[in-house]
Amino acid sequence: MNDNLFHSQVRTVWWEEDPPDRVQVGILDQSLLPQQIVTLHLQHEQQVAEAIASLRVRGAPAIGVTAAFGIALAAARLLAERQASQQELTLAELNEHVYEVAQLLCRTRPTAVNLFWATERMQRVCLEARSTRQLVTLLKEEAQAIAAEDAQACWQMGVYGAELIADGDTLLTHCNAGALATTGIGTALAPIYVAARSGKHLHVLVDETRPILQGARLTAWELQQEGVPLTLITDNMAGHFMRQGDIRAIFVGADRITANGDVANKIGTYSLAVLAHAHQIPLYVVAPCSTIDLSLPSGDQIPIEQRRSEEVTTLYGTPIAPAGVTVANPAFDVTPHPYIAAIITEKGIVRPPYRENLRGMNTEH
Ligand code: MRU
Repeated sequence: MNDNLFHSQVRTVWWEEDPPDRVQVGILDQSLLPQQIVTLHLQHEQQVAEAIASLRVRGAPAIGVTAAFGIALAAARLLAERQASQQELTLAELNEHVYEVAQLLCRTRPTAVNLFWATERMQRVCLEARSTRQLVTLLKEEAQAIAAEDAQACWQMGVYGAELIADGDTLLTHCNAGALATTGIGTALAPIYVAARSGKHLHVLVDETRPILQGARLTAWELQQEGVPLTLITDNMAGHFMRQGDIRAIFVGADRITANGDVANKIGTYSLAVLAHAHQIPLYVVAPCSTIDLSLPSGDQIPIEQRRSEEVTTLYGTPIAPAGVTVANPAFDVTPHPYIAAIITEKGIVRPPYRENLRGMNTEH
């Protein structure tokens, strides 16, 4: 369970150590949801990298936590292997291994900055260790701290964001920025859960989120589990409902927020933002400070992940387009800051001017 707010048993990613010499990273395989609920027990850093790249675990904060656990796993695994074969492992060798595993994980997905934030934080641990055994312990503790801080941040974002939701509101969300994307109650869905739990009556319109349907498969499933009333719509219906006056606010997550407040999020967020602006509907971005990248001046510098064309040309393996058709498949787009009413973080609600108000929010990039 991500938090005791939840009725369901949603768990995204966790550390497994039972018996103590056999460590694994547990994940819920999100590529199979909602038809199948399958837990994977990853024993090698290559499996962790594959799980991130293939979206078995996804969502910016969860990617960061998984990478942190992946590094801790890789260090523990190498030390255990060497001990089993009675071969020495020096601290320098283990440090080098941590660096290489961090590089491996950083090659999986380029847009969500939480991945780079978490791997850098894990690598800093190497500076503190005086023995291989101590390094393995410190890495495990750091990864667990990253996971716990993420859960706590979700809760705080939920409390701040719930202030922006009134009883009777209908809200729109895109992709999945819920419990499945974090180790807590989510980012964009956190205010919705907190508001609903406090007794506000809400209705959520959920964009299906093509091409791989994180809205239909994951958000609809998650909200349903929690008993939050929802209506699933296809992406191209959002403007219709905005024009009808049905939507009071839009809540989305973020994969990277730059110094000027521009936001990279799931492809389709920009279209929603422009439509929302035309209809004077506030678009709120909900993200932890680990998603803020002050090293980039604007969204123009954010690397946008390009994914396989089959995600567009097939649905569950069935072709839906003529063979050989040219396809574009950017996984994210950038919403310029003038379209964003506020950014909700665990430290509070940030309003424009973002360049001034985001300053100092995350100095670790
Ligand atoms: O490709 P995905 O499923 O990892 O994309 C996820 C999103 O775009 C989310 O909105 C974002 O990561 C925030 S998750 C709290």
